Amino acid sequence: MRVLITGTNGQLGRELTRQYADKDVKLLLTDVNELDITNVDNVFNYFNNEKPDVVINCAAHTAVDKCETDIENAYKINTIGTKNLSAAAYSIGAEIVQVSTDYVFDGTINKELTEFDTPNPQTVYGKTKLEGENFVKTLNPKHYIVRTAWLYGDGNNFVRTMLNLSKNNKTITVVNDQFGSPTSTVDLAKVIINLIENKNYGLFHCTCKGKCSWYDFAKEIFKLKNVDVNLTPCTTEEFPRPAKRPNYSVLKNYMLELTTGDTTRTWQEALKEYLS
Ligand SMILES: NC(=O)c1ccc[n+]([C@@H]2O[C@H](COP(=O)([O-])OP(=O)(O)OC[C@H]3O[C@@H](n4cnc5c(N)ncnc54)[C@H](OP(=O)(O)O)[C@@H]3O)[C@@H](O)[C@H]2O)c1
Repeated sequence: MRVLITGTNGQLGRELTRQYADKDVKLLLTDVNELDITNVDNVFNYFNNEKPDVVINCAAHTAVDKCETDIENAYKINTIGTKNLSAAAYSIGAEIVQVSTDYVFDGTINKELTEFDTPNPQTVYGKTKLEGENFVKTLNPKHYIVRTAWLYGDGNNFVRTMLNLSKNNKTITVVNDQFGSPTSTVDLAKVIINLIENKNYGLFHCTCKGKCSWYDFAKEIFKLKNVDVNLTPCTTEEFPRPAKRPNYSVLKNYMLELTTGDTTRTWQEALKEYLS
């Protein structure tokens, strides 16, 4: 099997590359320099020449706050890039895995969200990712759409930000009224590979189990790393950001539970392994 990974230098791309290394697949590893997903001609040429059986789209404009002003690029990468890959994959009979986000929901009610709940994105990032999902559904029936949240792995993420901040700050203030599920790229990559191996097409939520606030998440990071820092909770109002954050974006891995089973660990177990 020939597996194309886009955005392979990002957090998830790196973990998928690592997990596929000992499998019997031919990996086609690309990031923006090798395959800019926004360029439709290049994308179709690439598919015609390399003939992947499946493309896993890890390329994205993930800077949520920047997307609020960098709107055109957000649509180009998150929506049009995804459209290009879906159509090119369809043209040669290939499958597509699209990685999406909890930000497609508004997160206004305290309820675990399943794949059957209705999206209502409140940010440019969320809107562009949802339109990407829609193109995948419309253009290629052989699709897996996997929504995740609060992702960390090999790259820039909340865990690294907290540990870096603790080097130069005695007090760190973190939001305590937004809830979600921190998710390791290790668990997410394993689920994606399993979906492909089982041809389990459709829309899936995939986060580690359990929920916490950003403050709880930071507390656990410092506890596990034995970092002595004065961690102070604050409200969203006290820490305004350009992009509105969902208050309660806890995803339930309902479709995994209903089909191949949910292999994800609790967020604390996964974090412990990451930090060790
Ligand atoms: N990170 C999270 O907390 C989170 C949460 C929910 C969902 N997700 C989703 O999970 C997926 C993986 O996220 P991640 O954290 O691994 O992302 P990431 O670390 O930001 O990696 C994204 C990669 O895509 C590349 N890229 C950007 N524009 C491109 C283009 N036009 N063509 C090809 N590659 C391009 C980036 O390159 P540059 O760095 O040079 O731009 C980067 O290497 C994304 O779909 C994201 O939306 C992430």
